[in-house]
Amino acid sequence: MIYSILLILVLWLQEDATKEILLKITSMEDLRLSVPEMITSKSDMRQWSRVQKSLGKIVALVPTMGFLHDGHLSLIREAKAHASTVVVSIYINPSQFARNEDLSTYPSNLEVDLQKLTAIGGVSAVFCPENIYETASGETKDGRSEERGDLVSCLEEDGGSGHETWVQVERLSKGLCGKSRLVFFRGVTTVVTKLFNVVEPDVAIFGKKDYQQWKVITRMVRDLDFPIKIIGSDIVREADGLAMSSRNVRLTPQEREKALSINQSLSQAKCAAEDGQHSCKKLIGLVVEKIIEAGGEVDYVEVVDQDYLEVVEKIAKKPVVMCLAAWFGTVRLIDNMEIHIPQ
Ligand SMILES: *[C@@H]1O[C@H](CO)[C@@H](O)[C@H](O)[C@H]1NC(C)=O
Repeated sequence: MIYSILLILVLWLQEDATKEILLKITSMEDLRLSVPEMITSKSDMRQWSRVQKSLGKIVALVPTMGFLHDGHLSLIREAKAHASTVVVSIYINPSQFARNEDLSTYPSNLEVDLQKLTAIGGVSAVFCPENIYETASGETKDGRSEERGDLVSCLEEDGGSGHETWVQVERLSKGLCGKSRLVFFRGVTTVVTKLFNVVEPDVAIFGKKDYQQWKVITRMVRDLDFPIKIIGSDIVREADGLAMSSRNVRLTPQEREKALSINQSLSQAKCAAEDGQHSCKKLIGLVVEKIIEAGGEVDYVEVVDQDYLEVVEKIAKKPVVMCLAAWFGTVRLIDNMEIHIPQ
């Protein structure tokens, strides 16, 4: 009886149907294989990574602060193109927020992040350190009870917790975003150094939306001889031109509409430059005017050279990048556009 049912089934399964079922089975296999391993301890992470490397794998790290969007997913695709093993770290780094900044409102949703990473496939591990700072607990020398785990307090009163070492890229950290966010890059470079030391990647991917961050990290790796290749990945924009950012969800619909002036003005400035307007002052004026007209508040708009981020007055042979930070309501957005006029 069972055999005859099976026989009927086999006859009934046309070639296409069989293929379809086989396809389904393989994609289920893929799905199972693509659930990334969740790692929370530093020593487990380092050991895991060393095992991968001993198997001859090239390990890529994509450092993130979570709340993943398509911009992050494109960093992961870039990582896959350069490595056989991809590690995504998710860590909201308190040391890159100043006291008055949006640390407490920075969006996060680990569960959804893990679903996205599973869906995209090819991510081998997710490193989610609870706090990658070792903090001294118990009593300090002067008898104070020491329980502070947060780095922000350590920032305010240096030496107040178990962490007192900083990595700082001197010159590149000062301009652009470094002007209004004094502690920002010191926090980034210190935590990225720690991530590099824990994960020991061969390659690390950074988004060019954070252009200065990408350059600062590249410089740090060069200056401190990290055996890591840094890759900058292109900005990913929403269909309407807004650069993808985890902070975008905090914009009201009206603010979001106003924020479109960022891409529009930068694109227009780029076109103007290509059409022969080589005065950076004029180009900056054009952008500032558009942003203000739209109802935004400009933090800075600057044209700098792509390598050293030095201010440029006139666009010539050297490739430059126009960088911008502006407030829309309570949200500070950054964006940039590379401009290269071949002469
Ligand atoms: C950015 O703005 C420019 C100028 O308005 C526009 O042509 C372009 O399509 C926008 N980008 C996107 C991705 O919408």
